[in-house]
Amino acid sequence: MLQVDTIVESVQEIKKNIFLLKVSAPSIAAEAKPGQFCNIKVNDNNSPLLRRPFSICEIAADKISFMFNIVGVGTEILSKKRKGDRLNIIGPLGNGFNYEGNYKNVLIVAGGIGAAPFPFLLNEIAEDRQISCFIGGRTKDDLISYKMKNILTSTDDGSEGFHGNVVKLLKSKINEYDKNETKIFACGPTPMLRAVSEFSIKEGIECEISTESVMACGFGICQGCVVQSSRKDGFVLVCKDGPVFNAVDVKL
Ligand SMILES: Cc1cc2nc3c(=O)[nH]c(=O)nc-3n(C[C@H](O)[C@H](O)[C@H](O)COP(=O)(O)OP(=O)(O)OC[C@H]3O[C@@H](n4cnc5c(N)ncnc54)[C@H](O)[C@@H]3O)c2cc1C
Ligand code: FES
Repeated sequence: MLQVDTIVESVQEIKKNIFLLKVSAPSIAAEAKPGQFCNIKVNDNNSPLLRRPFSICEIAADKISFMFNIVGVGTEILSKKRKGDRLNIIGPLGNGFNYEGNYKNVLIVAGGIGAAPFPFLLNEIAEDRQISCFIGGRTKDDLISYKMKNILTSTDDGSEGFHGNVVKLLKSKINEYDKNETKIFACGPTPMLRAVSEFSIKEGIECEISTESVMACGFGICQGCVVQSSRKDGFVLVCKDGPVFNAVDVKL
């Protein structure tokens, strides 16, 4: 884990209210693994006080990109950063995806801004795997396909792709894949992750989920990001034990 002053390279609105923030951060870029995140201090002053956590979306040489949408004060400030601005970043944090192993099919399941960690993961996954990306949103405006491959879409309102949520889309297609040769990687809102986890456990399909929690420190000190563990009597920390968990290990 490093704390570094990074230089903003660009902030690009790639779709309405979806931003890509690229910073130059050689030391973090050299260590980062797909699924890990960084905790960003969005301002030089202490307003807002707490850092904001963002998945590492992409790495290109010594540059890191984060994908975000504006939901409050911190993301609003980030969206206004310009080339040359400085940003203090702690990272890489947490445990990322385990994408090694003996399986042929990779099923990405992303809800809304849950698409953020997958460009990095997809770039690292071995070329001989068969990749399918299931992307869901409330409407077609919420679908994020940035750097995704072999895309299947779903919308709650039926404005694009399958009419229904992305887990229903996944269920409707799952028989096209050999379950013993398949691994699911999911990120999105908690109800979506809960549904993917239940489905994968019932079907006996390997599944990892990237979870979210409101965070303060980002590295295991404040105990502010607990989720219930299903393996032992107790809790695990999203920032330190996660944010990526095997679906069988946590109760959302
Ligand atoms: C490990 C991790 C990785 C994340 N990766 C990304 C990412 O790649 N892209 C992205 O856009 N967002 C990501 N998030 C969520 C992001 O951190 C929050 O959206 C951000 O902190 C909101 O800051 P804000 O100041 O704009 O909003 P605030 O003013 O702090 O909050 C606005 C609203 O967002 C809710 N909110 C705040 N923090 C979270 C959170 N952590 N989870 C869910 N809801 C929250 C608040 O309850 C409130 O309703 C991630 C969160 C975690 C824990
Ligand atoms: S955010 Fe402090 S322990 Fe996880």
